[in-house]
Amino acid sequence: MIFRQLFDQTSGTYSYLLASRPGGEALIIDPVLEKVDRYLQLVKELDLRLVKAVDTHLHADHITGLGALRDRTHCITVMGEQTKADVVSMRLGDGDTLTIEGLALDVIYTPGHTDDSYSFVMPDRVFTGDTLLIRGTGRTDFQNGDPRQQYESIFGRLLKLPDATLVYPAHDYKGDTVSTIGEERAYNPRLQVKSVDEYVDLMNNLKLPNPRMMDVAVPANMKVGLVQEEIARRGWTLAAGEALSLMGKPDIALIDLRERSERERHGTIPGSLLVPYPTLQESIRSGGMLHELAKSTSKRLLFYCAFGERSAMAVQAAQDAGLTTACHIGGGIDAWKKASGPLAP
Ligand SMILES: [Fe+2]
Repeated sequence: MIFRQLFDQTSGTYSYLLASRPGGEALIIDPVLEKVDRYLQLVKELDLRLVKAVDTHLHADHITGLGALRDRTHCITVMGEQTKADVVSMRLGDGDTLTIEGLALDVIYTPGHTDDSYSFVMPDRVFTGDTLLIRGTGRTDFQNGDPRQQYESIFGRLLKLPDATLVYPAHDYKGDTVSTIGEERAYNPRLQVKSVDEYVDLMNNLKLPNPRMMDVAVPANMKVGLVQEEIARRGWTLAAGEALSLMGKPDIALIDLRERSERERHGTIPGSLLVPYPTLQESIRSGGMLHELAKSTSKRLLFYCAFGERSAMAVQAAQDAGLTTACHIGGGIDAWKKASGPLAP
């Protein structure tokens, strides 16, 4: 496995770049906006292809690199389903698996620091976001934080992992880089409590100042999705209701860009072609399946995904490839469901 821990000094944030092999797909966890050039340089040097950018939660202390990475690499942006970030390409829930070629991370919902906090588990390590830090825990006094939930997330979930599991947090302010579950159970001062009430008491009396960046970072991080507006301005967006009225028309080809796990969880618009977003480029270039379909049948390509972000990027890519009838369903399956569009399992 290729693994890099990257540090942003200004916010004390750790970001993690993972891939299974040189030349393969990569994902990054908790990227910081100011460091995007550095990440992309490294991705290039290691001969990787960034396909997913993931935030463990909505950050209050730095602006996320998710939007910039998406704009520059066309990667998929990923967060938990509770997040208030406006558009994230893919939303994960507890029990899901976050995958790229050759790697699979188990997704566990670990609220408490915020109500959209997730941890990602691999056989030998866990990325804990701000839920569990090295000799500390993430504060619980804003962004719907809840010390009681955090206690459950830590004692009920994270500390149940094997003792030797490496702990990689989203932050450190003292210079520590990695710990283990066993070490934290034994020596993390916040975890030496006898009851949930004692933990709640401890967390409610920390009296921390608000993070310096909070008033800037939180609103910025809630507005990650900008792609759809531009695509709509160019007239390439159909509202879910309009798309519904085109159902069954012979000149429309519906294309589902989501991954299998998302299709299984939310259903698919009947009659859709399945072209997961990572395979799109191959499919729209000359000789590719969608390219041939659009050229030989004059069918209009109607892309959709979960929330409209991947499909907005797909429309742009298809238009760039000369497929000038390509459009997408604004808001994706989420909007389709709200418009009472039919779904097949
Ligand atoms: Fe945080």
